[in-house]
Amino acid sequence: MKKEKQEIFFVCKECGHESLKWLGKCPECGSWNSFTEFKPNLKKNKITDFTSEVKKLNEISYNDKENRIITGITEFDRIMGGGIVVGSVVLVGGEPGVGKSTLMLQVAEKIGSKKNLVGENYKILYVSAEESLQQIKLRAERLNIKNNNIFVISETSLENISKAIEEILPDVVIMDSIQTINSDFIPSPQGSVAQIRGITAEIIKLAKTKNITVFILGHITKEGDIAGPKLLEHMVDTVLYFESETTQNYRILRVYKNRFGSTSEVGIFEMNYDGLKEITNPSEFFIQHSENLVGTVTTCVVEGTRPILTQIQALLTKSYFPQPRRVVSGIDYNRAMLLISVLEKYTGVSLVYEDVYLNIVSGLKTKETAIDLPAVVALYSSHKNIVVNSKCVYLGEIGLTGEIRAISFINERINEIYKLGYKKVFLPYENKKNVNSNFLEQKNLDLVFVKTIKEIDKIF
Ligand code: TYD
Ligand code: MG
Repeated sequence: MKKEKQEIFFVCKECGHESLKWLGKCPECGSWNSFTEFKPNLKKNKITDFTSEVKKLNEISYNDKENRIITGITEFDRIMGGGIVVGSVVLVGGEPGVGKSTLMLQVAEKIGSKKNLVGENYKILYVSAEESLQQIKLRAERLNIKNNNIFVISETSLENISKAIEEILPDVVIMDSIQTINSDFIPSPQGSVAQIRGITAEIIKLAKTKNITVFILGHITKEGDIAGPKLLEHMVDTVLYFESETTQNYRILRVYKNRFGSTSEVGIFEMNYDGLKEITNPSEFFIQHSENLVGTVTTCVVEGTRPILTQIQALLTKSYFPQPRRVVSGIDYNRAMLLISVLEKYTGVSLVYEDVYLNIVSGLKTKETAIDLPAVVALYSSHKNIVVNSKCVYLGEIGLTGEIRAISFINERINEIYKLGYKKVFLPYENKKNVNSNFLEQKNLDLVFVKTIKEIDKIF
């Protein structure tokens, strides 16, 4: 190609398309004004020199158990599918400030105190392309990290990072963050799609050939920014997203992809002044008030495969607006409107002159339909000013004819409810056939199966 003789050429920031001339519109991805000048470094023609060997499939030894690092942070190990698989590449995405660097430093501390198969402590290299060594140290002080096996480097160039890896030979590398690492050999500006992809490809090659476990940290914006980690999901083994509720100090770590475990797990943490603490009993964390209140209903949602007890609150007040307000948070707005319509149609109440506020406490968000019944009970309770027993738990999906429909994970939910000492559960009649007989026979737990919301005043 001519390109190699020419000193300067142009690259599209968005897709990495190359051109000898500057172009206003990219012929590849259609972006406008996205071409920037690029001077390739022609001294070397490859970034790293990792080579792969060919082996017979039958000769490759692999033992799932032995090849996992158990960190001891149970919330983290569980979502990883029972520890970190050695040699895997894990993407940790999240909004800036959510706590990715904090989490990884805490994970590094735990890994550093564990021994590998030959009885040596695991070595971790923490690459910070965002912060200085002093800043990392400051955070480590705050987190009380004392481990002697954590190495840090503040570096943005992939070439220098790979030199450091050759030198230190770590077992685990943490790259913080992918957007700020760049390589002179990828003809595209820092942070662009082509750079992020190219660097990730190199990192994966490194991980797979040297059996190094790599964590790639990446920022995403609220919209799931295009030039962010979303692009890398197909390249890595595991994708974790760290989410937060801005007004709350708890964080949810979700698995979006896992080649070595289930994708339906979530880990819940609380951000404190001295780092992240795991919340091993989320139900107790989310239910902070246990008095009987008007408009407050206890329910059980399933996050991943974990049942979590939480409360739904409704507040209905006289409206001073021509069109009454409907403010919903934590559940889908349209679903809430549907529930209001069903309630009006089948119980005879009218909410036309009332403002409605419907909310899941603690900022939890859910798409689950099992919260239909508790939401309707909360609305009705606030409308009629009836107190709801906080020791009762409500579960059930509501259909358009007011019927209460079966929900999933029924036994897991009942088990959690029972474990936490609740005495009564209102649940769909449709689920009766799936409920374990030991729950049905349990004297301390009153299971009330309901069929429709038409007789809502009987389910208090
Ligand atoms: P950080 O890990 O730097 O986030 P990210 O790497 O995802 O950008 O943490 C960001 C926030 O967490 C920061 O606003 C300060 C807060 N924080 C605590 O509350 N407690 C702590 O112990 C630490 C280290 C951070
Ligand atoms: Mg950070």
